Amino acid sequence: MLIAGNWKMYKGPAETAEFCLGLREQELEGVDVVVCPAFVSLAVAVQLLAGTEIAVAAQNVHWEQEGAYTGEVSAEMLQELGVYGAIVGHSERRQHFGETDETVARRTEAALEAGLFVIACVGETGEEREREETEEVLRRQVSVLEGDDNLVLAYEPVWAIGTGKTATPDMAQAAHAFIKTLIDVPVLYGGSVKPDSASELLSQPDVAGALVGGASLELESFSAICRAAIRS
Ligand code: PGA
Repeated sequence: MLIAGNWKMYKGPAETAEFCLGLREQELEGVDVVVCPAFVSLAVAVQLLAGTEIAVAAQNVHWEQEGAYTGEVSAEMLQELGVYGAIVGHSERRQHFGETDETVARRTEAALEAGLFVIACVGETGEEREREETEEVLRRQVSVLEGDDNLVLAYEPVWAIGTGKTATPDMAQAAHAFIKTLIDVPVLYGGSVKPDSASELLSQPDVAGALVGGASLELESFSAICRAAIRS
C-alpha cells in the first residue's frame, strides 16, 4: 500500500522541514510513504528524510535533460538532488497549464527512462462523468502510457479533487478495475481522501493506495491516513 502526499503550492522550505521532522517520529512500518513538496522544498525534504523509508517526489518533471525550457526541471536535476520520483499529469496541470495526454506521455517516459518512480494521474471531469464518458476518457488518458515497474497510476476524478466530494468506494473500485484492464500497474485513488474515508477506499481490491492533497498538509491527518493504509 502506497500513500503519497501531494502538497501542491503549499509549504516552503521552513514548513517542509517542520513537517518532515514530525513525520520521522511517526510509526509508519507497513506502508510506503511518499511526500511531494514544491520544487524549492525538495532539497530540505530529501535531507531531513534521509535514512528513513519515506521517499520524496516532485510534482512535475520535464522530458528533456536540459535546454531552453524556462520554468521546467529535468529528471536528471531531480536525481542529483536525491529525489526518488515525480507526479506527472496531475489534473491541475492539465486544467491550468496546458498539459495534454501527449506531454504527460513524454514526461512519464523520460522520467522512467532516467530511473525515477512516476505517479501518473488520470481521471474524468464532473461533466464527463455526467455524460457517461468516464471509461472513454480513462481509455484515452491511459492509452499513451506503458506499464513499467516504476510506474503507478493515480485515478483522480477531477470533480472529487479539493471539493470534499469523494468518489464512493464502489465508484473508485469500478474505475480502478477498468484501468487495470488497460494497464497492469498499481492504481492509487485520489480526490478528497480524508482519515474518515481512507479505510473504506483503501480496502477496495483494486485500490493500491492513495494520492492525498489537502489532508496531506497536516501531520495528524496525513499520518492517520497512513495508519489506515497499514490496517487495510
Ligand atoms: P485532495 O487532492 O485530496 O485535496 O482532493 C488530491 C490531489 O489533487 O492529488
